[in-house]
Amino acid sequence: MALRTIVQDGDPILKKVCRPVTKFDDRLATLLDDMHETLLDANGLGLAGPQVGMMRRLFVCLDERDKPEEVPADYQEKFIDFVNPEIEYLSEETDEQYEGCLSFPGHNGAVVRSKSVKIKAQDRTGAWFELEADGMLARCIQHENDHLNGVTIMDRATHFYEDDYPEDNEE
Ligand code: NI
Repeated sequence: MALRTIVQDGDPILKKVCRPVTKFDDRLATLLDDMHETLLDANGLGLAGPQVGMMRRLFVCLDERDKPEEVPADYQEKFIDFVNPEIEYLSEETDEQYEGCLSFPGHNGAVVRSKSVKIKAQDRTGAWFELEADGMLARCIQHENDHLNGVTIMDRATHFYEDDYPEDNEE
């Protein structure tokens, strides 16, 4: 496995619409493994193809649904690979929370997202699966899926944390 360079703000690749994945081969598996490693290294929750320079419809999310509150030393982080994802349902109920993006360090934007989501995608072998998620994972899925359509928090955010930084927060 190897770390990939994360594409940063200003790169036109972040505004492009990605193409479907057509080959489920070793190259795809290596890419996904590298994305896991890159995501952990960067302390993120999700990472999409274009963020590592791949204009393909795929992203990975950290799966913390079963993560214990007291994390054991030997805890292995879990990931979900989404290849050619299709969002099937977005709840009408929404909430607004600050989101960051590894491609826009220093920007935390308040983004309205559906609270729950249903998504269909292929795994690295090409097998289709369906997943229902809420909470952080639902937000992560919506954020990463946006990347595949060239949409980022810079387009979605109603305002940014740096615009209204809480006064009582000394840093
Ligand atoms: Ni992002």
